[in-house]
Amino acid sequence: MAAAAKLPKVPLGRQGLLVSAQGLGCMGMSDAYGDYNSDGAQAESLAVLDKALELGCTFLDTAEVYGPFTNEELVGQAIKGKRDEFEVATKFGFEIKNGTMTGFDSTPANVRKVCEDSLKRLNIDCIDLFYQHRVDPYTPIEDTFSELKALVEEGKIKYIGLSEANAGDIWKAHAIHPVTAYQLEWPLWTRDAEKEIIPTCRELGIGLVCYSPLGRGYLTGTIQKLEDISENDWRRGNPRFSAEALERNKAMVKTVKNIAEKKGCMPAQVALAWLQHQGSDVVPIPGTKRVKYLMDNVGAYFVKLSPKDMKEVDFQPEDIVGQRYGEEFMKNMTFHY
Ligand SMILES: NC(=O)c1ccc[n+]([C@@H]2O[C@H](COP(=O)([O-])OP(=O)(O)OC[C@H]3O[C@@H](n4cnc5c(N)ncnc54)[C@H](OP(=O)(O)O)[C@@H]3O)[C@@H](O)[C@H]2O)c1
Repeated sequence: MAAAAKLPKVPLGRQGLLVSAQGLGCMGMSDAYGDYNSDGAQAESLAVLDKALELGCTFLDTAEVYGPFTNEELVGQAIKGKRDEFEVATKFGFEIKNGTMTGFDSTPANVRKVCEDSLKRLNIDCIDLFYQHRVDPYTPIEDTFSELKALVEEGKIKYIGLSEANAGDIWKAHAIHPVTAYQLEWPLWTRDAEKEIIPTCRELGIGLVCYSPLGRGYLTGTIQKLEDISENDWRRGNPRFSAEALERNKAMVKTVKNIAEKKGCMPAQVALAWLQHQGSDVVPIPGTKRVKYLMDNVGAYFVKLSPKDMKEVDFQPEDIVGQRYGEEFMKNMTFHY
């Protein structure tokens, strides 16, 4: 289904930020999934960013670590001359040496350095939303947020976000400077954040930005077996993409496909519509490097699910095979599901 109309703008958080009701995840244009480096892939990614503007999908999600660095550069290239038409979100929080992520770094000095470097790569003079990508276990979050507050006062960033922080850290950070948005993994096969994180954000008026809303592609039905993803694809090491999990989770995708068939829409649109139906404070950021997928994803905003549809895809942790991240990655989360 093609995108029917332009996306509206919605408030994110309580500090005045307005973003498109669905964002565009840009990570896969420079990292992690499938072929992104060829000239053809890069050209199509730029075409996706152009089309996104036409469809009102203006809330762009990138990070220092995607590439690293090259994704921010690509976004910078795409928004040149039209910066004011986009809401640009990026993230800091890692130590990166020789092009490799080697640990955490949310020390005030690094927060400032990443901000300055991201501004240059994006070729803009203010970041709309600057997230801490992961909490640094060695730097008190109060120190990180004091520096972020200074960057807001200096006009280098407008709003502050968190990703994967635990509830205690959300409260501590919010006490230093209001948190506008929290980025979390909340597709219909990852529900654990509903216990504590989402209620905490809602209590504090923090907007919910949902990453990997298509289950990293699996919920769309396009990935059915290991051979459907290339050998150097990051998902090959993710427990949800083991041969066993791909097979055993198929029943869930079948349910999603059945609903899509009934409605005459795409499975990806059912997965995104499920999130849009969770509340007006929820903004999914599906990632794609294909114009066709972008059009389907934007069209999902206009898909209505009935209470019966919602019940059918109300999957619980016991229905799902495989952790959302492997052990190594889980160690790097301060918020363990
Ligand atoms: N805060 C964090 O820690 C964190 C973690 C992960 C991601 N993120 C952000 O969230 C964004 C989205 O998450 P994600 O990219 O991990 O996962 P996702 O959006 O759930 O899925 C992306 C995958 O789905 C495919 N796809 C997209 N639209 C489709 C459609 N309509 N039909 C069929 N397949 C479709 C894409 O294919 P193609 O690539 O071929 O287009 C890609 O392989 C990222 O780009 C990134 O900005 C943040």
